[in-house]
Amino acid sequence: MTRKTPSSAAVLSGAAPAAVRRTAAGERWFSAPWKDRAGRVSPFKSAVLAGCLLPAAFMTAEWCTGTFTGRPLNQAMLMTGVWAVWFLLLSLAVSPARAIFGLPKLIQVRRMLGLAAAAYTVAHLIFYVLMEGINLPFVVSEIIHRFYLTIGFIAVLGFIALSVTSTDAAIRRLGRRWKLLHRLVYPVAVLSLWHFFLTQKIDVTLAVLPTGLFLWLMLWRGLPASVERQLASLLLLALAAGAATIAVEYAWYAIATFVPPGRVLAANWHFGRLGPRPSFWVTLDGLAVFVAAIAWRRLPVHDKIGAWLTR
Ligand code: HEM
Repeated sequence: MTRKTPSSAAVLSGAAPAAVRRTAAGERWFSAPWKDRAGRVSPFKSAVLAGCLLPAAFMTAEWCTGTFTGRPLNQAMLMTGVWAVWFLLLSLAVSPARAIFGLPKLIQVRRMLGLAAAAYTVAHLIFYVLMEGINLPFVVSEIIHRFYLTIGFIAVLGFIALSVTSTDAAIRRLGRRWKLLHRLVYPVAVLSLWHFFLTQKIDVTLAVLPTGLFLWLMLWRGLPASVERQLASLLLLALAAGAATIAVEYAWYAIATFVPPGRVLAANWHFGRLGPRPSFWVTLDGLAVFVAAIAWRRLPVHDKIGAWLTR
């Protein structure tokens, strides 16, 4: 959701592409998401945009074909919530991906991914309101009285603040304060994940997985710049994120439930009926990044991919 401040020359120079709108002051505030800064259609941005729209398209198709089981509004509400979390994580993954794979141009899609997360969150809230029969006084009272909804609502406000300050004009106007403001994405992510945990019944597996990946992203951000691309760091990071995931899951069961946390802990080493725990998938994802980084450096593909991204 965060992005670098574009140079004013890049924003204002030359004729405005057709897709670009300008404010009265001449600042660009909107450009078609499938176009690059020069106004050309970007295959990469177009592909990412299609990816952002895909869950919405699937949900619409399921709705229209009657595949949504039970209560469609409830299902749409749950699915948009889950997609909001995943798009938020994807937007946070852009910085590590840029650094590890040496692809600075990935920055072009960070805003799009962040806005997709915000859009799915707003859709989630709208579906909730519809589910409650658009009874706004009831919805407000629920948000005030139910803690998991209160923190969800604060996260929504954070998403809105991040979104409205994501325009080129806002980035220019806020200058250095923009970067500071957009650090808000971290508490927003924590609140969103916390809300996710609280919405689950006893089994919080669905919430632990994205939380583990969020921990990987945060641990990577904690690395000194000198080692953030090193293979050894990525290997240790995979193991550390897996261990942190186990710790969070254990703490949740110990503090918030009556489930014996030791039994959940033991399930991390014995894949029983439950199958692999989230810590396994988080470690595996971390190792996948490690292996991809090795492959990326060895295989002569990065020039081609880099060129595709800059087209
Ligand atoms: C005012 C704001 C919000 C409201 C009113 C709200 C409401 C709800 C409700 C009623 C549920 C279902 C709980 C249940 O089944 O018992 C839910 C689940 C969920 N919400 Fe929210 N939510 C809000 C904000 C957010 C935000 C900001 C996010 C993340 C970005 C989010 C992500 C989720 C997720 C992932 C689930 C679980 C989905 C599942 O179990 O499949 N929600 N929310």
